[in-house]
Amino acid sequence: MSHRVFSGIQPSGQITLGNYLGALRQFVAMQHDAKAFYCVVDLHAITVAQDPALLRERIMDLAALYLAVGLDPRESTLFVQSDVSAHSELGWILQCVVHMGELSRMTQFKEKAEGKDTVTAGLFTYPALMAADILLYRTSRVPVGEDQKQHLELTRDIAMRFNSRFGETFVVPEVMMLKEGARIMSLDDPARKMSKSNPNPQSRIEILDSPDDIRKKVGRAVTDSDREIRYDPQGKPAVSNLLVIYSLTADMTIDGLVAQYEGKGYGALKKDLAEAIVAHLTPIQEKYREIRQSGRAEDVLRQGAITAAQVAEETMDLVRERVGLGGFRRR
Ligand code: TYM
Repeated sequence: MSHRVFSGIQPSGQITLGNYLGALRQFVAMQHDAKAFYCVVDLHAITVAQDPALLRERIMDLAALYLAVGLDPRESTLFVQSDVSAHSELGWILQCVVHMGELSRMTQFKEKAEGKDTVTAGLFTYPALMAADILLYRTSRVPVGEDQKQHLELTRDIAMRFNSRFGETFVVPEVMMLKEGARIMSLDDPARKMSKSNPNPQSRIEILDSPDDIRKKVGRAVTDSDREIRYDPQGKPAVSNLLVIYSLTADMTIDGLVAQYEGKGYGALKKDLAEAIVAHLTPIQEKYREIRQSGRAEDVLRQGAITAAQVAEETMDLVRERVGLGGFRRR
């Protein structure tokens, strides 16, 4: 049986090189030999306050970017989470399966809640909705970056618990992560992951950044103390991060890059890296602008919502029956 793939990205900010290299690029690679569902997870985005008009724009931005990087609506189903109400419904049911203790242990929740006076209940139960996203489509593989690994492990636990309590219902999904690139670090602090919600815009490269911004940001990226260019994520985290980004954007091996820059300084490495990123992103940006202007993404999302809802509803029929819920609408 061919694989089912599901993944999602929040429309909560500009998509970064971390999102692209760690996740989005894998979405494209995986669509050919699997039935794939890729989602704009707007319900997850509203776990923190969003401006409604800006959220709507960002949903369209992300949909256009999905298409611009090469997701093909003939091969993959692209849709917006809130267009398929089964996500909210199964999300609720899974909130009644997951334990408070499990949710309390999620590091993403702890990080996002840290220092805040109040956080929404949705931010806390977020992983149950994420489990619903994945389990609705009988997903076997989920391509994500390293920061989602813990959520994926919880999804597997929830699926197994549900299956053993109510009978075989869900496929238990596998997480798919890159060996290098699953955790792209901030340019201003190699101890933190690159993130679209970091208040410092110099910390990240956004997919839609201009060539000049990319050059400036790479030029200002922090480096490690000595001048040697070698790959050592523990000892030289900043330069190792730049080497990973370089290797993925220029499609060269890290060893090859290390050999190429032997005896050269950080300046040469950064200059070439910036050009490699610009060369990689320029065609994506051109396609993106063309798609954004054409309005093509709207048709894709409309069709995607119909296809996704059909699959999701089939799963929901089974879930409602297994759990012993209602069902009168169909009787
Ligand atoms: P989000 O929107 O924060 O990020 C989208 C994807 O990008 C990956 N990523 C990174 N990869 C490498 N280096 C980085 N610095 C980096 N930053 C982000 C993330 O791991 C993710 O794969 N909860 C999810 C969205 C979601 C989802 C789902 C994902 C909702 N439902 C179901 C998979 C399946 C999130 O907030 O991703």
